[in-house]
Amino acid sequence: MDETSENEKIEFDLLLQAIYQKYGYDFRNYSKASIRRRIRHRFSRSGLKTISEMQHKLLNDKQFFEVLLLDLTVNVTEMFRDPSFFKMIRKTVIPELKKQPFIRVWHAGCSSGEEVYSTAILLNEEGLYKNTLIYATDVNEAVLDKAKKGIFSIDRMKDYTRNYRNAGGIASFADYYTARYDHAIMDNSLKKNIVFSDHNLVTDDVFGEMNLIICRNVLIYFSCDLQERVFGLFWESLRSGGFLCLGSKETIRFSTYSDDFENVAEGEKIYRKNGKITLI
Ligand SMILES: C[S@@+](CC[C@H](N)C(=O)[O-])C[C@H]1O[C@@H](n2cnc3c(N)ncnc32)[C@H](O)[C@@H]1O
Repeated sequence: MDETSENEKIEFDLLLQAIYQKYGYDFRNYSKASIRRRIRHRFSRSGLKTISEMQHKLLNDKQFFEVLLLDLTVNVTEMFRDPSFFKMIRKTVIPELKKQPFIRVWHAGCSSGEEVYSTAILLNEEGLYKNTLIYATDVNEAVLDKAKKGIFSIDRMKDYTRNYRNAGGIASFADYYTARYDHAIMDNSLKKNIVFSDHNLVTDDVFGEMNLIICRNVLIYFSCDLQERVFGLFWESLRSGGFLCLGSKETIRFSTYSDDFENVAEGEKIYRKNGKITLI
């Protein structure tokens, strides 16, 4: 339960307003309990006495803001996260994408790119990558830089190899990266059809004509109203018959867009915009 006092609530709201006005990042409609927890986490390490003091520091110290930004955007991710999801993509989405002459994929909230490289590998194995353009976007430029580089910790590769196999991968996962010291550098061939760019789901516009939108573990941090805005954005950005994929704890079913999408695999949160795919 969120036991924030009335005064604290005002302080939190003012702090989010200050961030928006000063830096343009709009967290005002993120889920309140989660955003307050993250602010408290940074506050408790800051040595500051009140949230109002923290607001003053944020306004005057950009570096302090950038540290808080990392807390607020929650960048946890991994390759082939939820392997059963990727397995289901192979089974249900890939056969439909194979009917398309050209494929556009949007990874919204891609964090440091592990999920994007996973999709590139999957599409490559299905013979589709050469005809695909992947737009990988995030609000946080620091994680996007990491995504562009495609360099990950070698320590994670054992888990990622297991995820890859559980996701139906049959090649040797090690062929997709070069190990150097304590890093794994993703193969350049996987990067060539990916465009990385910053995009804020709260304030920015549609990305048109997508065949597949993957936005997992992002909406969970948004209020219902904000989720509604983003579903509208996705609806407009998808071609008829295009696919929308959400995270395991997210659903479109309570939204006003519910009837505009059919279930492809509700368990894996794969939906399809109503209507037949229009060929280009
Ligand atoms: C928990 S990560 C999920 C990463 C990946 N999709 C996955 O499921 O592994 C959430 C990502 O959403 C991004 N994010 C948060 N708010 C956003 C916004 N308003 N617009 C775009 N991306 C946002 C964060 O920066 C973060 O990288």
